[in-house]
Amino acid sequence: MVVVPLPPGAGRTMKKIFLTGASSGIGRAIAEAASAAGHEIWGTARKAERVPILPGVHRLALDLAERESLGEIFRAAWREAEGFDVVINNAGSGYFGPAESLPPAELARHFQVLVFGQIELLHLALAAMGEEERGLIINVSSLASRLPVPFMAAYNAAKAALALYTMSLQLELPNDKIRLVDLQPADIKTHFNDAIARVERNDPRLARTWQAVDHNMKTAPPPELVARHVVRLMDAPNPPPRIMLGGFFQASVAPLIFRFLPQRLRLWGLRQYYRI
Ligand SMILES: NC(=O)c1ccc[n+]([C@@H]2O[C@H](COP(=O)([O-])OP(=O)(O)OC[C@H]3O[C@@H](n4cnc5c(N)ncnc54)[C@H](OP(=O)(O)O)[C@@H]3O)[C@@H](O)[C@H]2O)c1
Repeated sequence: MVVVPLPPGAGRTMKKIFLTGASSGIGRAIAEAASAAGHEIWGTARKAERVPILPGVHRLALDLAERESLGEIFRAAWREAEGFDVVINNAGSGYFGPAESLPPAELARHFQVLVFGQIELLHLALAAMGEEERGLIINVSSLASRLPVPFMAAYNAAKAALALYTMSLQLELPNDKIRLVDLQPADIKTHFNDAIARVERNDPRLARTWQAVDHNMKTAPPPELVARHVVRLMDAPNPPPRIMLGGFFQASVAPLIFRFLPQRLRLWGLRQYYRI
């Protein structure tokens, strides 16, 4: 008997995906991998033309800071796609500087982009998917939600809020028809640090932390690592509620050790790690 091997991807159904932050880094890598796998993607960035031109990719403008427009943009995309199988809340940016240097308006903007905007899209996706009783939502939070980075208080707190909101909704969902995944990347080599709003000060602790943050990012695994996992998650019958991705030490060893340490030792360990 001759067995003809199945082509790669055979048996997999084509998915319709809504993906924020598709113009750069992790989001761009997901768009590329999903496009290569034959899926159709509605990819967003603040300027639509920054989203790459790829087979199956629809380019959309969406700014998480502009609250009023989010519902309209999502619903219009949903109608055009006739529903999404997967919604990926990935877009985000950071602020680096002493917490007290962050002006209240900037703090509010940060939480709008990293928390309230994400939650609004999450609610829109849940409501729309609820009617069809199926779907997968992936929220990209961060390992910083558990292992905070010094001088990134607003970012760490915002990611922790998103992670716990995701976990709370996982408790609320009545069944497994809609899946919700909290994806927590460790350092991944992207342009994230280039886009960070950064306070310049003559402070050696700030300088040393930035050196470590910059070094970690430059030596981190590429965003394709995350993209490969995300494309696999789309076909997983039972995706994990939380997944950490990155280098072995950051994504596997550090969180495990951290879990068992008393808070005083955690703070000491993080200060050692960042040499502050
Ligand atoms: N890289 C890491 O080490 C790492 C680690 C943990 C978690 N993460 C998280 O992973 C996600 C992706 O980050 P990345 O590393 O891929 O960074 P990136 O290369 O800077 O990409 C960020 C994406 O978010 C979009 N974006 C930024 N601000 C936005 C806003 N106000 N409204 C809508 N879109 C906005 C950007 O699009 P435009 O600028 O074109 O609008 C871009 O597509 C973020 O949520 C980040 O917090 C990253």
